[in-house]
Amino acid sequence: MFKIVQRQEMAGGTIVLNEIEAPLIAKKAKPGQFVILKANDAGERIPLTMADTDPVKGTITIIYMVVGKSTALFKSLKVGEGYQDVIGPLGKPTHLEKLGKVVCVGGGTGIAVLHPITRGLKEIGNEVVAIIGARSKDILILEDKMRAASHELHVCTDDGSYGHHGFVTDVLKEVLQKGGVKLVVAIGPVPMMKFVSKVTAEFQAPTMVSLNPIMVDGTGMCGGCRVTVGGETKFACVDGPEFDGHKVDFDELMRRLQAYCDDEKKCYNDFCTLQQA
Ligand SMILES: Cc1cc2nc3c(=O)[nH]c(=O)nc-3n(C[C@H](O)[C@H](O)[C@H](O)COP(=O)(O)OP(=O)(O)OC[C@H]3O[C@@H](n4cnc5c(N)ncnc54)[C@H](O)[C@@H]3O)c2cc1C
Ligand code: FES
Repeated sequence: MFKIVQRQEMAGGTIVLNEIEAPLIAKKAKPGQFVILKANDAGERIPLTMADTDPVKGTITIIYMVVGKSTALFKSLKVGEGYQDVIGPLGKPTHLEKLGKVVCVGGGTGIAVLHPITRGLKEIGNEVVAIIGARSKDILILEDKMRAASHELHVCTDDGSYGHHGFVTDVLKEVLQKGGVKLVVAIGPVPMMKFVSKVTAEFQAPTMVSLNPIMVDGTGMCGGCRVTVGGETKFACVDGPEFDGHKVDFDELMRRLQAYCDDEKKCYNDFCTLQQA
């Protein structure tokens, strides 16, 4: 068993952090990589990016939004309990390079994925501007960590409850207009990454996004995670999860993510009913 040693609820319990004992994964993992977890024998295989690792303690940290049956089951696990299986590190690590001025844009739980990448880009000498956003202040996560990981932080909320009233793309445009941006890294909901990539294309700013298609095996065998990038089929689990945002077919990705919506809703409702009984 992969034991949970720390557990924290954020954003009113809609987002959960688990620090998990996984010494071999903690030793090898790099920013941008993910793991696949199963709570128990009957559980689904769920991909989650590592938000942090501690090779000395032998732990990895995941931060996930509770969106369906499996993430609700994960939320019910307490400190001292754990996951039956954790496989990883999977996927290609982020290519970290000293480029000059870089902009890191994060939304929702994408901020957790973006944090180690932002920190890594700063550590190797880049000038890092971070822009993070959420629907409202109560569900914004990791503001302090993102402030420490960057040279300049902008916060946006859709409802204006905190920081800039509006989308991350508004602030991104202003930063790009000042010039000199060598790379934009955008991680968050698919529509956010799509619109960030549209804006950066206008400014010809190279853009990297991290894709989250439905994954099953995570090793390039099942084809479940296929995405179209530059007109070619790629498997996000082995060719990614990071890709050139200007080449990704985001509309296809959104359609594929919706494919099992009705079944997922039914599963989640049945699980909640069982929990309440
Ligand atoms: C490489 C990768 C890294 C990810 N990292 C994070 C992360 O750090 N934090 C986080 O909150 N979420 C992350 N996700 C998304 C997370 O895997 C899904 O939210 C989770 O699988 C939902 O499962 P569920 O049973 O709770 O919800 P369900 O009700 O089954 O599904 C809800 C929605 O989640 C997505 N989903 C469902 N099953 C899968 C699956 N097997 N693989 C991928 N997406 C699925 C679909 O869009 C679906 O509509 C990541 C996804 C990928 C592919
Ligand atoms: S998850 Fe099966 S090929 Fe990527």
